[in-house]
Formats: sequence, structure tokens, C-alpha cells
Amino acid sequence: MESANKNNGDVNVVDHMNQHWESMRQFLHSQTTGGWQKCWEEDRTPWDLGHVTPVIQHLVQTDALPKGRILIPGCGRGYDVIAMASSQRNVVGLDLSEAAITKAKKLAASSANANSTTFIVDDFFTWQPNEPFELIFYYTFFCAIDPKTRPAWASRMAELLKPDGELLILMFPISDHVCGPPYKVSVSDYEEVLAPFGFKAISITENEHAIEFRKGYEKLGRWKRTSN
Ligand SMILES: C[S@@+](CC[C@H](N)C(=O)[O-])C[C@H]1O[C@@H](n2cnc3c(N)ncnc32)[C@H](O)[C@@H]1O
Repeated sequence: MESANKNNGDVNVVDHMNQHWESMRQFLHSQTTGGWQKCWEEDRTPWDLGHVTPVIQHLVQTDALPKGRILIPGCGRGYDVIAMASSQRNVVGLDLSEAAITKAKKLAASSANANSTTFIVDDFFTWQPNEPFELIFYYTFFCAIDPKTRPAWASRMAELLKPDGELLILMFPISDHVCGPPYKVSVSDYEEVLAPFGFKAISITENEHAIEFRKGYEKLGRWKRTSN
């Protein structure tokens, strides 16, 4: 369902983004470099849920995630890195912002699976890991990057995933608003850039675990490569 300016109860997500994300957006655009770092330093992080993404919690609890090496680019404060980490899953949280990674490391330090987490400050578009990943999870990152860079984003997916690896994406915000970040996204936006690299969706579902005001604006997509 492509949703445009739907109202979920009392809060419309587009209104919410206009109210709460606009100052962050103006701030980001006013910085020639280091905008994300400044956002983290000054706590202008309206996207931050303050807890693990509920659907990730659900997938962990129902044992519905692959084992092995997992990457979360644009991991922010690292809640999902910590939640996914286990004796069978080593999770790498990558973020451009040193301030975000410092906060994430602090949070992870007291978690039971801290030893299965790694946090790295680097640029997703140029970072070179030693090994590819079984799973890459994305949330509020595709919408954070300039839409012109989406083909490069898909190319990186193909480089960073093992040939039979899986891409798990929480697509947000599926809306028709203008400007960004967060830039609007649609399922076809993902398919357009992923298909040339042989990725095919194995499931696309409404995110029933979305936080209340994001309900109807999020879908969970799982992609795998069918060819190289
Ligand atoms: C909108 S925030 C989302 C953070 C987290 N996924 C969440 O939902 O709380 C986008 C994050 O991506 C990071 N980021 C932006 N461009 C990046 C890049 N090229 N490489 C790595 N991280 C990047 C920012 O520093 C920021 O923490």
C-alpha cells in the first residue's frame, strides 16, 4: 500500500516529520561537511526511537534472522546491533558519526552480548570490511542519503553481502512528501536500484510492529540475489 499523508489516530507521520525533523533537516543542509556528526553532538536526532526497533525484537524472539555476520549501516545509537547480537550472530554497527558510535559503544558495554558487537566509524560508501556479510539490515538510512546516490547504495549491497546473503530493509517513510532527509521512499525505489544487481524480493509485508505514528508508512522487505 503506497500511503500518502494518511492519518494514524492522532498523529500524521508527515506532519510529525515536518514539525520535528525540519530543524534537523535545515541544520544538515547548512553544514558543508560533518552534518550528521553535528546532529549527534547536539542531540538533534528526531529519528531515534530510544529503544530497539520493535520488528527487530520480534524477529530475534521468533528466531527469524540468519546466523553469522550481520551489518547495520547508519546504525546510530546501535539499539538494533545490540538486540541482534548473540553467540551465533556477530553484528557490526557502522556509522559516519564518531559521536553516534561513542554513544552506541557506551550502550553496548552493559549488554549481555557486548562481545558479539563491533562498532566502526566509517563511510558506508567507501568502507572495506575483511569479509562479506550473511545479512545487512537497514532502517532510516536509505531515506537519509541523497536519492542520487541510491544506485551506488545498491552496488555496495552487492559488494558487502555474500552471494546467498540477505538484505532486510525496513522501508520508511513510504509517503509522498517532498524534500529530505528523510527522503520519501517506495518499494519500486528499492526494486529499481536492486534489480540490476540480481536482487529479487522474497517478501514484502506491512510492518505490523511499527511504532504507532509510523504505522502504514513502513514495510519490511527481504531480498536475495538470484544471479551475480
Ligand atoms: C536518520 S539516522 C538513522 C539512525 C538509525 N538507523 C536509527 O534508526 O536510529 C541516519 C544515520 O546514518 C548515518 N549516516 C549517514 N550517512 C552515512 C554514511 N555515508 N555512512 C555511514 N553512516 C551514515 C548518520 O550519521 C545517522 O546516524
